Amino acid sequence: MEKFFIGCALGQEQELLNELEEIFPFLISRSGKAARYSLVFQDYGGVEIETELELGLQLNFFLKTANRILLRLVEGPCQNFKDLENHLKKWPLAKFQIADFQLNISASKSKLNNEKRILMEFERLFPKLLNPESLTTLYVRMFENLLSVSLDLSGDLLHKRTLVEKKDAAPLRESLAFLGLRALKGPSLFWTELSHITLVDPMAGSGTLLKEGCLALSCQIDRRFAFEEIPILEKTTASIRKKLESRKPTPIFKKVIGFDRDQETFEKLSKNVNSLLPIFDVEIHNADFRKAAGKNSVKGTEAAPVWVISNPPYGKRIPRDFKIQDLIQNFLEIFNPDRLGLFLPKSDEVNLQKTIWRGYKSKIAFHVQHGGLPIQFVIFHKLNG
Ligand SMILES: C[S@@+](CC[C@H](N)C(=O)[O-])C[C@H]1O[C@@H](n2cnc3c(N)ncnc32)[C@H](O)[C@@H]1O
Repeated sequence: MEKFFIGCALGQEQELLNELEEIFPFLISRSGKAARYSLVFQDYGGVEIETELELGLQLNFFLKTANRILLRLVEGPCQNFKDLENHLKKWPLAKFQIADFQLNISASKSKLNNEKRILMEFERLFPKLLNPESLTTLYVRMFENLLSVSLDLSGDLLHKRTLVEKKDAAPLRESLAFLGLRALKGPSLFWTELSHITLVDPMAGSGTLLKEGCLALSCQIDRRFAFEEIPILEKTTASIRKKLESRKPTPIFKKVIGFDRDQETFEKLSKNVNSLLPIFDVEIHNADFRKAAGKNSVKGTEAAPVWVISNPPYGKRIPRDFKIQDLIQNFLEIFNPDRLGLFLPKSDEVNLQKTIWRGYKSKIAFHVQHGGLPIQFVIFHKLNG
């Protein structure tokens, strides 16, 4: 058994735990036994779990709400350099055959608060292994006199899924897009039960929401993770990677439809959704959704049931030409959706009781920080939908 720390957006730890519960049964266990884990602790910004090595490594392929996975190498109380040296002498560098590494050090509220001195101690103890160009990073954390040294298994942040190559001026982080889609789905439905639904993003930008909707059940196998640079760890998951690569992506929704009125953004959107074709049924329009939607297949009942999800401009990087109450009314009238989910800045005072939204019950599903801005995800649910 090994310990893994899984980082996520601040405040989204419970969502990450829910996702772990959902995906663990799908992980491939080499022993053939059911894949299990135990929760060690939940912290602000992540959770620590204990599980088999090959299961923890595999989480990189599966998790959508995490941003990084670390493997704990050394942990323990540490008051001085003698303690540090004793810890490091015992650490399992040989077990994982780590040939070289670079360091990411942070220290606070501890007697050993000096990051430069900690680095010097590593240089003294491991002169041949320290390499600022290494593809392997060790995270050294000293907090309240507790030391932890962890191996970064992910490399690039997990939410940077490779498919979206060209971003518009205000893209949504993929992990956040996934969280919104999962909140819109709710706990009572499985992803496999949405194949009769059309998903619409009327302000699609670079298409993050549409893409995350299509790939909600797909693994991330089109990139390499940092642990795959370490031969012994790569070998541990090589056959699992092969199995996952041979799985065909399953369309989640009947169809996904996007609009964006900005020409340059639309070109990026086209490039991004191209990679989803022909497996997924994707329709995009370079148009203002308020003018174009009526002429397209999303109007009325043809595409029903429709779910709308969107991340409208916040009026900061992209200007706004609407009042938020009017925009919600537009979405409900034009698309007549069974469900509507919106990423809005917390400063948007959405009157959830407003009578124009009669026929819909509404709630704030979650709050989260995005690029330093407090965001709320609001859901409208048609009462007879
Ligand atoms: C915040 S961005 C969406 C970002 C997107 N979620 C992503 O991750 O890339 C909002 C987008 O709405 C588009 N937009 C604004 N008003 C629109 C309208 N009336 N119809 C269609 N697109 C609109 C803008 O061009 C912009 O690309």
